[in-house]
Amino acid sequence: MSAAAETLSVLKDIAERGKAGASGRAPEIASIFIDSEARHALSGATLVSTNPSREIPAANFSRGGREDVHAAAVSARRALGGEWGGTAPQRRGELLYALADKLEESSELLATLETLDVGKPLSQSRGDVAGAAATLRYNAGAADKMEGSSVPLGAEYLDFTEHEPLGATAHITPWNFPLGMAARSLGPALAAGCTAVLKPAEQSPLTSLAFAALASEAGFPPGVLNVVTGLGDEAGAALVGHPMIDGVTFTGSVATGRIVGASAGRNLKPVVLELGGKNPLIVFADADMDRALDAAVEGAFDNSGQVCSSVSRLLLENGVKDEFLRKLVERSRELTVGDGFEDPDLGPLVSPEQLEKVDGHIAQALESGARALLGGGRPAGVSKGYFIEPTVFDNVDVNCRLAREETFGPVVSAFGFSGEAEALAIANSLPYGLAAGIHTSDIDRALRLARRIEAGTVWINGWFIGGVQAPTGGVKDSGYGRERGIAGIRNYIRIKNIGVHIADHCAGG
Ligand code: NAI
Ligand code: MG
Repeated sequence: MSAAAETLSVLKDIAERGKAGASGRAPEIASIFIDSEARHALSGATLVSTNPSREIPAANFSRGGREDVHAAAVSARRALGGEWGGTAPQRRGELLYALADKLEESSELLATLETLDVGKPLSQSRGDVAGAAATLRYNAGAADKMEGSSVPLGAEYLDFTEHEPLGATAHITPWNFPLGMAARSLGPALAAGCTAVLKPAEQSPLTSLAFAALASEAGFPPGVLNVVTGLGDEAGAALVGHPMIDGVTFTGSVATGRIVGASAGRNLKPVVLELGGKNPLIVFADADMDRALDAAVEGAFDNSGQVCSSVSRLLLENGVKDEFLRKLVERSRELTVGDGFEDPDLGPLVSPEQLEKVDGHIAQALESGARALLGGGRPAGVSKGYFIEPTVFDNVDVNCRLAREETFGPVVSAFGFSGEAEALAIANSLPYGLAAGIHTSDIDRALRLARRIEAGTVWINGWFIGGVQAPTGGVKDSGYGRERGIAGIRNYIRIKNIGVHIADHCAGG
């Protein structure tokens, strides 16, 4: 059996045991995947992945260190000069199409592993697999369409640009969409001809490992896609600072983003930082209230609020604020919370640390006078799992962490405003600038505000608009660089300019 097949077989065992809720010692998996071979950390150290719905260990996996990262970086660099370097762009696209097919064929396995690792409702995990496949197909189709240009320098010259792959790239992903984030940055990197080392979040390694094993089965040569599982400040930091790495793509917290950006900067390597937000949804009195409510519910509670572009501040025009909140509470009360395998609307938060953080934001807000219109604690009758109810707050002190910092839980806070200028001032008052939404029936107002809001993405009369085609990213502390779309592929391309001086006479003639 190939190493990839063996890895997938162990992952199947982990998925089945996890879904069945088997107790006892969790299976062990060699989760460092280098040169299409799976192995344990050189140190022998392991980490545990836990099912956050049941607080049962799901798998013991490898805690990669500096030496493992070094081996992966060497492999990625070597692969650039090997078979992969000679693989035509169209063929790279074919391999990505093949990998997309493999993801879909393995959808049930991948969805089960994702729900096991992060607790998200099973049908949402299936949706994430479909999204990852769509992402790969978009990039597959673009692989042979990233054209250079010719530069007009006049009769004596031919000057043109070629797009070279950036090189060996590092991908550091978070735990909220492990497979989706892996596909989002690896898809364009591989389309562009780069090689990669992926360091998934320590809470959620399993689908990333499956992704690499499936890539190997799809025909990607050894070394093109390597995975080193481990901790952020060990494996992650070693990877970002590795001299053989030519570029870094990071998604996660602002605090870690600063460290990653500084480290990449020391090596003078380009970096893409996607760092989350405190995203405002602005609802004017003239908005279609049903659509605005849909946007608020989906935006605030999807993935239990663990989305970089979640709605976390609800800015409501004073005339409609009370009625909107009453209806929002009515709708949100209907949402089910539970074990991801029972496919509720909301699963648990990913970890005890995340639960503690969200609880902390809530407690501080309550102490300073906030009013919970809905939720605020553990769902009734739940004794296990890192659950938190859908929560709606009013009267939140603007100096609270809940009002100012990324909470990353199913918690939304309402703030009243009167008029466009005040809405804009509140929306732009924080250091974040990832996503924002405007609900109004006045198209001029919507477009006026869309241009003035400090955010990488603005949605009008909807939320979570767009897919792999639409670029996403932040301004201010939400980071820099754009992922998805053609912009996402450009992250992995290096432009080379070639100039030719053309002699104006025939040699010897
Ligand atoms: P984090 O930003 O520390 O972790 C994200 C990834 O970075 C993980 O793979 C981690 O192992 C890695 N990492 C950590 N330290 C590193 C370092 N020094 N060098 C290189 N890589 C490193 O996020 P964490 O601690 O898991 O979550 C904390 C908060 O971050 C959350 O409460 C949430 O607010 C925010 N977050 C935002 C995300 C987003 O998509 N905007 C995703 C995940 C977390
Ligand atoms: Mg987990």
